[in-house]
Amino acid sequence: MTKRIKFFDTTLRDGEQSPGCSMNTKEKLLLAKQLEKMRVDVIEAGFAVASNSDFESIKIIANEIKDSTVAVFARAVKGDIDKAWEAVKGAAKPRLHTFIATSDIHMEYILKMAPEEVIRRAEEMVRYASSLCPEVEFSAEDATRSNPDFLAEIFDRVIEAGAKIINIPDTVGYITPDEYYNFIMDIRKKSKHLDKVEIAVHCHNDIGLAVANTLAAAKAGATQLECTVNGIGERAGNAALEELVMIMNVRQDQYGFISNINTKEIMKTSNLLASITGVGVQPNKAIVGANAFVHESGIHQHGVLNNPETYEIMKPESIGITTDNIVVGKHSGRHAFKDKIKSMGYELTQGEIDIAFEEFKKLADKKKEIYDKDIDAIITNRESKVEDKYKLVRFVINSGNTITTTASVVLNKDGIDIEGISFAEGPVDAAFSAIDKCLDIHVELEDYSIQSVTEGTDALGYSVVKLKYGNHRYTGRGTSINVVEASIKAYINAVNSIA
Ligand code: KIV
Ligand code: ZN
Repeated sequence: MTKRIKFFDTTLRDGEQSPGCSMNTKEKLLLAKQLEKMRVDVIEAGFAVASNSDFESIKIIANEIKDSTVAVFARAVKGDIDKAWEAVKGAAKPRLHTFIATSDIHMEYILKMAPEEVIRRAEEMVRYASSLCPEVEFSAEDATRSNPDFLAEIFDRVIEAGAKIINIPDTVGYITPDEYYNFIMDIRKKSKHLDKVEIAVHCHNDIGLAVANTLAAAKAGATQLECTVNGIGERAGNAALEELVMIMNVRQDQYGFISNINTKEIMKTSNLLASITGVGVQPNKAIVGANAFVHESGIHQHGVLNNPETYEIMKPESIGITTDNIVVGKHSGRHAFKDKIKSMGYELTQGEIDIAFEEFKKLADKKKEIYDKDIDAIITNRESKVEDKYKLVRFVINSGNTITTTASVVLNKDGIDIEGISFAEGPVDAAFSAIDKCLDIHVELEDYSIQSVTEGTDALGYSVVKLKYGNHRYTGRGTSINVVEASIKAYINAVNSIA
């Protein structure tokens, strides 16, 4: 017997809250489209009341996404629900997701409300949300530390008020799989109505049990699993989407669950998120880590050569990893390049293709082999690029282990070249402070990373820079074979998103 499981992705809401993972509207839309392509059932697009830019991003995503449901998060507060509805009402399949805490500790110290008051508020707000939106989800925050009798009561009341999906989250990542299974079974027994609606679960990974707990909850009857790409999220993160999907796939014999996810889009989605945020996954991460399909020991390599199943329980191709992908190079023309990016699933306008092709040509002049990941980096970088106010004209770095590094960077702003010169210990530091001298605003560097896109000394360097300006954070990206140039480009890209 198989059971259909729905995937609810909260990368753009719970995930985006985690340190270093904030995204701008364009980046959120890019990721939302990729999630839709991967066929997630529900995309939680954000928390509308958090800021104007969150509100705008949700609205844009809601208008663009057609196949997946678009959910918006809101406290059980009228103003939040109004704002969330305003943002999501243009969606083909809108959902309002409202929540209130139900554990004694949260009710006393956060809400400062009595339990009966919490029930009344939840019921009232779910009724209000249901008057606006046909699909309302209710979450009992900190459910796993709440009294099951209390949960059964609040769930019955909100279901009577119109909730169609009931979420029982492990907000603090505390429960264990067996406990969670029994907890859900117990509430199902105690509640009059829970079995008439969809049960959802949402697990955090504080003690590393988010995925195991989610599966235990699915065995106990949950059919909507909330998770994030690469497991990003508050504190230790949320249950990782790719792990849940592939466990169900590889161990269908154990669980009997099926989903609508196109597993071939998993790697691309993981890479896209990592390149947008600059937050990569650890090499040994299950499913999407760089080493997840690498066999290092001689015995293993020998076995895999004879028969991949000796050490591989799933095929790399099943998550969209292609090995034989050096198909375009220095001599490839515009046509071959266009076919290539189309086969990689990109839908670009002619203008975007032309820009990407120019970048590709520049890279192909310097680099022997161009891999899919190089093309992903070129395109992601272009797609998230903002209108350039500052343009890099040239830079010169003089560096060595016995001298102070000097950097000269020339930027063009509104047709005028401005030169900044600076000294520092290292080339990146010197280049960044030379750029600062060209700017008429004061920015603070919050985070900087550089990584190689592929292997080899001629690999493309991919840099992510996060700047703080006023109370806002801005992310910039840059790619180049020259790692200092990649870093400079990323810094200027971040400055341009402020400008
Ligand atoms: O962790 C959590 O409980 C949440 C909401 C579903 C309330 O993110
Ligand atoms: Zn959460």
